[in-house]
Amino acid sequence: MKKGHFMIPSINPFAPDFKDKAYELYEILRTDDPVHYTTQVPFSNPTWIITRYDDAISLLKDKRLLKKTPVTFIEEQFSEDSLQSDWANLFNHMLNTDPPDHSRLRSLVQKAFTPRMVENLRPRIQDIANQLLDQVVKNNQMDLIQDYAFPLPIIVISEILGIPIEDRSQFRHWSNAIIYAFNRPDRRKQIIPEIVNFNHYLKELVAKRQQHLQDDLISALIQSSINSDKLSESEIYPMIFLLIIAGHETTVNLIGNGLFSLLQHPDQCEKLRNYPYYIDTAIEEFLRYMSPVEFATNRWAAEEIHLHGKTIAKNDLVLISLASANRDPTQFPHPNHLDITRQKNEHIAFGKGIHFCLGAPLARLEGQIAIQTLLQRIPQFELSVDRDQLEWQATFLMRGFKSIPIRF
Ligand code: HEM
Repeated sequence: MKKGHFMIPSINPFAPDFKDKAYELYEILRTDDPVHYTTQVPFSNPTWIITRYDDAISLLKDKRLLKKTPVTFIEEQFSEDSLQSDWANLFNHMLNTDPPDHSRLRSLVQKAFTPRMVENLRPRIQDIANQLLDQVVKNNQMDLIQDYAFPLPIIVISEILGIPIEDRSQFRHWSNAIIYAFNRPDRRKQIIPEIVNFNHYLKELVAKRQQHLQDDLISALIQSSINSDKLSESEIYPMIFLLIIAGHETTVNLIGNGLFSLLQHPDQCEKLRNYPYYIDTAIEEFLRYMSPVEFATNRWAAEEIHLHGKTIAKNDLVLISLASANRDPTQFPHPNHLDITRQKNEHIAFGKGIHFCLGAPLARLEGQIAIQTLLQRIPQFELSVDRDQLEWQATFLMRGFKSIPIRF
């Protein structure tokens, strides 16, 4: 497919080779078909893919696009009664909610998830990064994802929430299984037991905290109130679930993609090693250059929307590519160039509008500590396999590798 072609065939963001080709495809779409119609998304037909920065910003703020699923999407996907109710319980969280419910839920959770709470975590995140590296540095090889980027955020979020240490491996298993199924709608039925057990576990944990409040986020969510309005029990489980799901794989990918980008750009790696104070702009550049979240989550048209000569019909699904918007040359000079000192970097890797990422300060802190600590402790490192052998995670929403083996 070349730029300037009139008809652009339907793009399939689920195709196994999509991630490798995506940036090339986005370039073509941004120029020739910025509101791209596709029939290839298995759970929704029709779907529109949005690729330009300006359109992404305006649609992320557009009240005509709703998060609430319009049709009986969930019922179509899961006919089993038990799964339906457990699934509905867990997924009825604020990222799937529209105002006014969204505004209420967001204010209540924001009261518990404060910037000060995040900043206080700095020394503990530093300890976790050092401990993870202690376990592997002597081997002169490690897997950047499995040994480092993956465990770090799950330990951090478990500690913030107050998940007991003895439950963490089980907890990690559930959260992985659910993330995987979320990205593979055709495989969702396989995780019925995981969903049911996870829901059950969360209910027991919240009940224990209600009896004995502690210094953790679950207790803070239980206590959070605004003018005597509180989160109900049935709102707390999905909120915990959202914090785990939204806060884990995303941060894994920030750390993994950031380190991978440095491996691919030794000059930038050297610069960051020699001038560690570039870490703030470097993190923003990693988020832009290789965005951890490829597409914003599902948004459905509540009414007809006309854009660039196309008509998005009521109930159509709109997928906004954050990865593409973040490489749009109208917003970012030399967008395919990694520059850890880039100024005026108004990327939308954390979204925009009312659903803007609640965990952005935490994600930035984890990313900074993880990447800087690794650069300090491992003076030289290189990929120990060919680039072509790296496998993408099997998810359409996210961008990140399953494994990045290095030697040093
Ligand atoms: C929402 C990205 C880390 C919690 C979002 C959205 C994006 C995003 C793009 C908006 C999705 C949409 O509008 O469809 C990221 C990235 C992260 C990250 C790139 C890491 C680099 C975290 C962390 C947490 C978190 C660490 C918390 C522990 C949330 C929550 C929402 C959200 C609760 C929903 C906000 C709402 O609906 O109002 N995130 N996220 N995220 N994120 Fe993050």
